Amino acid sequence: MKTVLSGIRSTGHLHLGNYFGALRNFAQLQHQAKCFFFIADLHSLTTHPKAEDFHSNVKIILSEYLASGLDPEKSTLFVQSSVPQVCELYVLLNMLTYKGELERTASFKDKVRLNPQNVNAGLLTYPVLMAADILVHRADWVPVGKDQEQHLEITRLLARRFNKLYNVAVFPEPEAYNFGSNLVKIPGLDGSGKMGKSEGNGIYLIDDQKTITKKVMRAVTDSGPAGKGSPMSQEITNLFTLLSVVSEPAVVQHFRDQYDNGTIRYGDLKKQLAEDICKHTLPIKARIEEIYNDDAYLKYVIDKGTEEARSSARATMELVREAVGFKVF
Ligand code: TRP
Repeated sequence: MKTVLSGIRSTGHLHLGNYFGALRNFAQLQHQAKCFFFIADLHSLTTHPKAEDFHSNVKIILSEYLASGLDPEKSTLFVQSSVPQVCELYVLLNMLTYKGELERTASFKDKVRLNPQNVNAGLLTYPVLMAADILVHRADWVPVGKDQEQHLEITRLLARRFNKLYNVAVFPEPEAYNFGSNLVKIPGLDGSGKMGKSEGNGIYLIDDQKTITKKVMRAVTDSGPAGKGSPMSQEITNLFTLLSVVSEPAVVQHFRDQYDNGTIRYGDLKKQLAEDICKHTLPIKARIEEIYNDDAYLKYVIDKGTEEARSSARATMELVREAVGFKVF
């Protein structure tokens, strides 16, 4: 059976893009593969969040994961910092990673540009920690977005390098997993890139009806259909993409026809879109709140997941320590 591993940083909430782009599919994938889902709290430390924010963030993301259909009886759910073997492997992999390789990554260059006052070593070695997350469970498949592909490339490089240096076959080279035709790229509400890329362009699973409606009604549009045969603007294409994810095909067709014959009113489309988004997310929101308030259940989930994750990581580290030559006595 294949092993799948997916991680999310502990800052920020899960949004529609996470849900329709990934989580909804994970709920199915966990029946076919051994799945590890974790919250990358160590990675979040690169931006120095307050300790008191940490706890509630981890708790809410865990509740969001569970409310979206991840099943602790089928999958392993855990928090990165509870598995110390990750840090041990991170140290070992750092010895095999060259400064130039890390300085070249696009994500590092972006972060240096955006935050020149906080270029810490953890930021530089962010991809090495990510490689440790993946390799410590010897994952075969890692569902990642475009922005993380380069990190996965480094993970493969380190897996190969380790195996070659110590003449072992400890690590498989993980592949990017995508959901094939099921994969929908969820655009943001600001007319540009994908949801979650910039502040305020996303709808979160914990947003209430009023917030969702307000956000959708404010979504960027254009000045109207350009007329027969002219291409649809990016802003309106995005709204139709969202509509096609959350609404009935007949509803999408209705607005498409109105767009084509020039009678569309974007306000009506947005009203419908907000309503249909709510139909999907409000039940999940209710479930998130229920789970969030059930400390006993959350503790059960995380104790179980931590134990499973540690045992998987321990098994890998046995092989790694042996390969490196730490087992003298
Ligand atoms: N870097 C990932 C992100 O920002 C989060 C992450 C950390 C991750 N470790 C991982 C994702 C391992 C997949 C596998 O989205």
